[in-house]
Amino acid sequence: MAKPFIFDRPGQAAFMSARREFLGRFLPRWKEEFGLRTALDVGCGVGYFAASLRDMGFEVTAVDAREDNIAEARRRHPRVDFRVADVEDSQIANLGRFDLVLSFGLLYHLENPLRAMRSLHALAAKLLLVESICLPQETPLLLICDEPTGEDQSLRAASCYPSEGALIKMAFLAGFPRVYRFLELPEHDNFQRVVGLDRIRTMMAAAAFDLDSPLLGPAVEPVVAASDDLWATDPTGVTKLLRRLSRGLRYTKSKPKLESKARSETPAASGIESETSRNRVK
Ligand SMILES: C[S@@+](CC[C@H](N)C(=O)[O-])C[C@H]1O[C@@H](n2cnc3c(N)ncnc32)[C@H](O)[C@@H]1O
Repeated sequence: MAKPFIFDRPGQAAFMSARREFLGRFLPRWKEEFGLRTALDVGCGVGYFAASLRDMGFEVTAVDAREDNIAEARRRHPRVDFRVADVEDSQIANLGRFDLVLSFGLLYHLENPLRAMRSLHALAAKLLLVESICLPQETPLLLICDEPTGEDQSLRAASCYPSEGALIKMAFLAGFPRVYRFLELPEHDNFQRVVGLDRIRTMMAAAAFDLDSPLLGPAVEPVVAASDDLWATDPTGVTKLLRRLSRGLRYTKSKPKLESKARSETPAASGIESETSRNRVK
């Protein structure tokens, strides 16, 4: 008897078809509009989305790090070019460039999602579509989680769960000039906020050019400056204000001394000094 695959368990069917139907709402149109011919499905499992892309008329290559998954994918979908490759290994970029890269259900199974995002950028000539678990916070966070074992899970013992802000940040850092949030998401509970549970998953598009679609809203890169706010224990902000005031007072008292010292130093050296003290975390 053939080995049962976790991808085929009954609970998965609704989740798989919700995402496929969602892709069907816009991708055939974008294919024509943006001249997308070739596609790469990364973390393809046993080939469900690779086959969906092929059915939409793409010339499809698909990769997964697990040989068993790839063997089964080849058996199920002989017209797709399946390969074994690890997205955390930068050698994956040797596969070439593809008009569309699909990364569904993958980024939160990785130890190094940013390194993987850089590879996805190298592989995507025009467009990257990401579907992922996301933490509910907006700040660009990665949470190290312990992974269960299974053929649809991480290769390694730990993986990083990203917030939506982290997905957006990583796409910008990897070099995509345009990043977009989807304004609508697949019709499945995992993509909705439900009673007692925040939204678990999201989708994002990153592109080499402007994407004009009513389904997308442009994302702005979240910027986190390492200021002492990260360590603040007083939510009212009063102690921060007091710290600033006392710093200001200390500065005013020592100003004549600093000015006479600065006159004896080179302008460049005193510039570095003031920049350093402004950024110091106290
Ligand atoms: C949750 S499944 C997602 C399958 C399919 N893309 C989907 O969304 O239904 C994650 C897949 O990523 C593969 N995978 C995990 N780590 C990988 C890595 N470092 N490189 C490539 N594939 C990986 C797993 O073997 C598994 O098939």
